Amino acid sequence: MQVSPKDILFVAQFVQELTGVVLDETKAYLVESRLSGLARTAGCASYQELCQKARSSGDRRLQDQVIDAITTHETLFFRDNSPFEALRQKVVPELVAAKARPPARRKIRIWSAACSTGQEPYSIAMTLWDTIPDVLAWDVNILGTDISDSAVTQASLGRFSSHEIQRGMNPAMLAKFFRQEAGGWKVKDELRSLVSFRRCNLLDSLGGLGPFDVIFCRNVAIYFSGETRRNLFLRLADHLTPDGYLFVGASESLSDLGPRFAPQYHGRTIHYRPNRTAKPEPVMRPVGAG
Ligand SMILES: C[S@@+](CC[C@H](N)C(=O)[O-])C[C@H]1O[C@@H](n2cnc3c(N)ncnc32)[C@H](O)[C@@H]1O
Repeated sequence: MQVSPKDILFVAQFVQELTGVVLDETKAYLVESRLSGLARTAGCASYQELCQKARSSGDRRLQDQVIDAITTHETLFFRDNSPFEALRQKVVPELVAAKARPPARRKIRIWSAACSTGQEPYSIAMTLWDTIPDVLAWDVNILGTDISDSAVTQASLGRFSSHEIQRGMNPAMLAKFFRQEAGGWKVKDELRSLVSFRRCNLLDSLGGLGPFDVIFCRNVAIYFSGETRRNLFLRLADHLTPDGYLFVGASESLSDLGPRFAPQYHGRTIHYRPNRTAKPEPVMRPVGAG
């Protein structure tokens, strides 16, 4: 089904309202390749009709299907590697040193925001496992969230195809943390116990989440408008502990965000820490906040 310029405008507005993801007229191929099957199955003669149906009927299932289809779930284990080296060499040793001393509790909370199918939170879990010798004696939770229902479901099952495993997993880690099963590999229960998953739209209120010692929010804000991206990172600052660490994608930088975050350099990676002396920047009300 061909997409018309009017269709594109309609789809773009609907998708941006739902997810924050910005589409423009250059994304016609994306709309066609990702939504044509769904439009046909939903009995719609155009993409505009598909969006109207999903919007007006309040059909949550159809909305979820549009979100699943239009969002980009590209990810891999240990993506870009250097953030995981920074975790291993710096962040986790610093957290362990700070939290092993009473009265601090041996509790570590990490959030992989927009975790797609789970490769990122499981990579964090493997890194923690290999860095903290008695990790199971710690109260560790790595929370993976994503707007896409199907991505969160796959992440939660902890099942990966051989193709997904080949992307970033080394044989020693594979043998240690996964068991082979029909059609692929499954995360072993002990590693799985460190990770939990839930659906979360980063445009909504993030109330009730955190505070986290570490947040990974990588390769999602690149799809948002400048304003949505800025609001998101400023809101994330409120969900970090005062000594927390924020990791963004390799192509992302928070240098335009003002003094709320202080960059820190480790090897090839920059991570950010909340700047406690900076006054909070005004944040626009997130869409969907009550
Ligand atoms: C390219 S993947 C990044 C996965 C992982 N963070 C990484 O860097 O490998 C982007 C993810 O962002 C999710 N996403 C898009 N809009 C979102 C939103 N408003 N709230 C939460 N997740 C969103 C998509 O569903 C997708 O899984």
